[in-house]
Amino acid sequence: MDNASQMTQRPKAVLAYSGGLDTSVLVRILTDEYGFDVVACHVDVGEARDPVALEDKARRAGAVAFEFVAGQERLARDYILPALQANALYEGVYPLNSALSRPLIAEVLVEVAGRHGATVIAHGATGKGNDQVRFDLAVRALRPDLRIVAPQREKNLTRDTCIQYASQHGIPVPATAQSPYSIDENLWGRSIEGGPLEEPDVEPPEEVFAWTRGPAAAPAEPRRLRIGFCSGVPVSVDGQALDLVPLIRRVGEVAGEHGVGRIDLMESRVVGIKSREVYEAPAAIALITARKDLERFTLPSDLLRVKDGLDRLYAQVVYEGLWFSPLKACLDAFMERAAEPVTGEVTLRLYKGSCQVVGRSSPAGVYNKALSTYGAEDRFDHRAAEGFIQLFGLQLVTYRRLHPLVGQKH
Ligand code: ARG
Repeated sequence: MDNASQMTQRPKAVLAYSGGLDTSVLVRILTDEYGFDVVACHVDVGEARDPVALEDKARRAGAVAFEFVAGQERLARDYILPALQANALYEGVYPLNSALSRPLIAEVLVEVAGRHGATVIAHGATGKGNDQVRFDLAVRALRPDLRIVAPQREKNLTRDTCIQYASQHGIPVPATAQSPYSIDENLWGRSIEGGPLEEPDVEPPEEVFAWTRGPAAAPAEPRRLRIGFCSGVPVSVDGQALDLVPLIRRVGEVAGEHGVGRIDLMESRVVGIKSREVYEAPAAIALITARKDLERFTLPSDLLRVKDGLDRLYAQVVYEGLWFSPLKACLDAFMERAAEPVTGEVTLRLYKGSCQVVGRSSPAGVYNKALSTYGAEDRFDHRAAEGFIQLFGLQLVTYRRLHPLVGQKH
């Protein structure tokens, strides 16, 4: 390489490119204002975007290279599945769809950076959200030497500024740019933020939902859906064996048709903000509901209790962007071991937004009808209970001898 071209060589930046207005504008800004050669990288996590149109858009905005990376299988196998083993629901309700895709996207960006010899990773997350935390921490855990640039965060770019910038630089502004909603979707769920939803007491208008029917539009008859699991992994629907991606899609279609999976959460963001978040995640809700039931059937109570606490911790660790942390790796090991006996089938009854378990079967159910029955085949030794209660209550009774309740309120 001669001196002249060395002088003109610009650092390469790999940009997480969704194809929306904001990231198209970012291609321009990173090129013109930061002086980078931009590699636009789109990770397909299930949004069904056309790769040809995406590339065209990215190149027109000034990208020197474009990468379209298939990510659905990886998202399902390496991100959704481990989270499902933890029945992961942040604050008990949000199945972490957006949170799970960010470390995958970061991982791909880092791979692409390696291939292109890039020294910079760029993303379009703002300074107010969780996504910046997840992108940054994942990139730093994987390649601490890479520089991270987030122009939205650095420049406080608003939607209006982006639209203005786009029209000044010949970047087409799609009709959807006028929508007040910010939408993020992948195989596991869909997040809708902004516009009227910012008013916590305003009911989400029907137009924000795309994957689920409202109760009025849902079928009049309930639908039974039988989901089979093998060591915690969902493997069949209504008796038909399916690979993970088609299985999630199938469950999502049926549950969504019956209005299952709408979530409205006053959410505590990592950066301290409380925000009103609306999601639809029919497959996630149906699968977690079924899987949890099968755990209750196949795991002993002490393990269930510990797992319950660790499930909650797991969701928080993922939410906070600590996907590549040693704590998360240790939790995964626990989840994997605990999932071993979770094999069997669960029947869900889907009806106008409700998702109820109505039956289950398992070769590993910790259940013995001869013990639990009230019928004639009862084999439980009732007399053994008396001694058990005596020992179980020893300290209670000793304490109450010292501190009698008689004549006191409690
Ligand atoms: N509040 C959710 C989360 O932090 C959704 C984020 C959606 N991201 C977006 N760029 N619209 O996981």
